[in-house]
Amino acid sequence: MNTIQIAIDGPASSGKSTVAKIIAKKLGYIYLDTGAMYRCVTLLALRQGYQAEQVDLILADIDRNPISFGLAKDGSQTVFLGDEDVTLAIRQNDVTNNVSWVSALASVREKLVEQQQKIAETGGIIMDGRDIGTVVLPQAELKIFLIASVDERAERRYKENLEKGIETDLETLKEEIAARDYKDSHREVSPLIEAEDAITFDTTGISIDGVVDFILQKALALQEKQSIK
Ligand code: DC
Repeated sequence: MNTIQIAIDGPASSGKSTVAKIIAKKLGYIYLDTGAMYRCVTLLALRQGYQAEQVDLILADIDRNPISFGLAKDGSQTVFLGDEDVTLAIRQNDVTNNVSWVSALASVREKLVEQQQKIAETGGIIMDGRDIGTVVLPQAELKIFLIASVDERAERRYKENLEKGIETDLETLKEEIAARDYKDSHREVSPLIEAEDAITFDTTGISIDGVVDFILQKALALQEKQSIK
């Protein structure tokens, strides 16, 4: 069976990573969480106290501490910076609240996009982020743009955080999500924008299974089409 590339973009907490992980498992594809990569660079910058003007130092730090992914015993994905497991550290509030300025740095994006494209060369892939359909995998056979209301996304993130033991306030989360939406969509380099050939899917009030089924059906049809060619 021939494999395809699936790009899933959309704003924060629109359900991208949850559905992408399930679909990757069902199709036997690699799943790449590109947001985790920008979070890793943010963690490096915060630890060193770097500012946006010190981007060269940030880039050198990425070279010294390569980002990689692993699997935990329960099958969930783990994230490493060099040898350090940073899976939980990159989800903390200070990282979330600083990731927008770090991910707006053109040379950081260039470096991470190059790494993402290399990973995609290895076969069937499902990648989620903000610029996958437009910049990272413009040739992807399937591009999905997931959206959902700010209220629903804040509630999802609130529950996720609770499960991870991260304390948050729902109203603060709503404000932070709206602020991050604005910054992600208005930055100069690779803003969050729907690819012309993407399918937009509003997940407000739709179950995870509902979103998974929708994308999976499209992916299976495209996979079959590739195999017949
Ligand atoms: O998906 P996430 O919320 O973990 O992503 C964290 C941040 O990383 C998000 O606010 C914007 C940035 N990001 C990006 O600029 N490009 C991507 N492909 C993925 C994430």
